[in-house]
Amino acid sequence: MVRLFYLEGMSKNLFPPENTLPRSAKEKLLNQQGKAIWMTGLSGSGKTTIALALEKALHEKGVLTQVLDGDGIRGGINNNLGFSEPDRMENIRRIAEVAKLFVQCGVVTICCFVSPTKIIRSKAKEIIGASDFVEVYVNTPLELCEQRDVKGLYAKARKGEIADFTGINSPFEAPDTPNIELFTDKNPVAACVEEILQKIV
Ligand code: ADX
Repeated sequence: MVRLFYLEGMSKNLFPPENTLPRSAKEKLLNQQGKAIWMTGLSGSGKTTIALALEKALHEKGVLTQVLDGDGIRGGINNNLGFSEPDRMENIRRIAEVAKLFVQCGVVTICCFVSPTKIIRSKAKEIIGASDFVEVYVNTPLELCEQRDVKGLYAKARKGEIADFTGINSPFEAPDTPNIELFTDKNPVAACVEEILQKIV
């Protein structure tokens, strides 16, 4: 009996409470719409470089943004996760939940994650909500990422020093129908940023 009473009490306190300030009020305050710009691509493809330039361009237009980046998040809230398939899924699940909070606050949230498989990206889209999710495929050939090797990780992966490295010994599935596809081998960063701005602003 006591337990039933407790459960009834719980159902009345389901989150979010009825008197929660609506997303529309926050978007009105900011004079913008929340969106998640989900950038997927190989390590070293240029996701973060483009994201930072995009953030700067949006800031100059008076748009409030937040960048969420693989290396940053993995050094913080996800520092207990590795690169096995289930760990990557959990990594993206948590990130998508965080991105959703920002988006519902009206913030343009730029997410830079390898997010290598279709199922992982569809999970992110499901959590954030399809209408708030803009998929950007940073399509840079593996050879170029490996040539750049900014963090020296490809060389290590080739020597067998890193397991499950995307593109070397772990798969990357390109999106079939991304909202935006960027070719960083043909276009400079500024042109890639312009392409995104054209689609979202
Ligand atoms: S994801 O696959 O789970 O989406 P995430 O974007 O968070 O990956 O992290 C990718 C970054 O972690 C890479 O840019 C790289 O710096 C680093 N990294 C370390 N080990 C790996 C690995 N095995 N595969 C891919 N990236 C790795």
